Amino acid sequence: MTQDELKQAVARAARDYVVSHVPEGAIVGVGTGSTANLFIDELAAIKGRLGGTVASSEASKKRLEGYGIEVLELNAVVEAGREIPVYVDGADEITARLEMIKGGGAALTREKIVAAVAKTFVCVCDQSKLVQTLGTFPLPIEVIPMACAQVARALGKLGGQPKLRAGVVTDNGNAIIDVHGLSITDPAGLETELNQIVGVVTNGLFARRGADVLLLATAEGVRTMTR
Ligand code: A5P
Repeated sequence: MTQDELKQAVARAARDYVVSHVPEGAIVGVGTGSTANLFIDELAAIKGRLGGTVASSEASKKRLEGYGIEVLELNAVVEAGREIPVYVDGADEITARLEMIKGGGAALTREKIVAAVAKTFVCVCDQSKLVQTLGTFPLPIEVIPMACAQVARALGKLGGQPKLRAGVVTDNGNAIIDVHGLSITDPAGLETELNQIVGVVTNGLFARRGADVLLLATAEGVRTMTR
């Protein structure tokens, strides 16, 4: 099976997960990236049972609205006391403990915010994303533009090689620095440490709040793993 076919299979499995785990009329959180895009395509078939969605990027919002699927503002959802039972999103790397690196698509901050509100984070990946140790994929960090140089210096002291992602501006108007060459043995500890660097908005480690469920597409079918 090709990687695209695996992504398609896991997107379908995520739609089935929504149908079987999310009550009709509930809000679904929607991630960003190529796998999340396929999930949005699948959601179109069941849009009648959704009470709306919350999107983690402008790109996903646009794709959802293209199908006539309602996209709600997160603030309005929280203020109304409504819940997001499930958030479905991809990852760049994930361990068997369901800790992740995310942000390859530069949407990490909004992804982390929607994930924090959602009850259950369902990660959708093909098997190439499952790793023993996080860090082969360069760790994305969203940074306030005027702080890039000093944040890069601080990141260098942690042992990685920071590289500014050229030409990228996040949905929040910020820059992305990718940190290469890390072998991350304590993801939750590093996630906390990186957040202490002044000028860092968010880092792409999702360990303190990892996924709750992993739907992993393999050549033998979609495996479900839980934390
Ligand atoms: C977006 O910023 C990322 O966190 C994505 O979730 C991640 O890059 C996975 O994307 P793909 O599904 O395209 O591999």
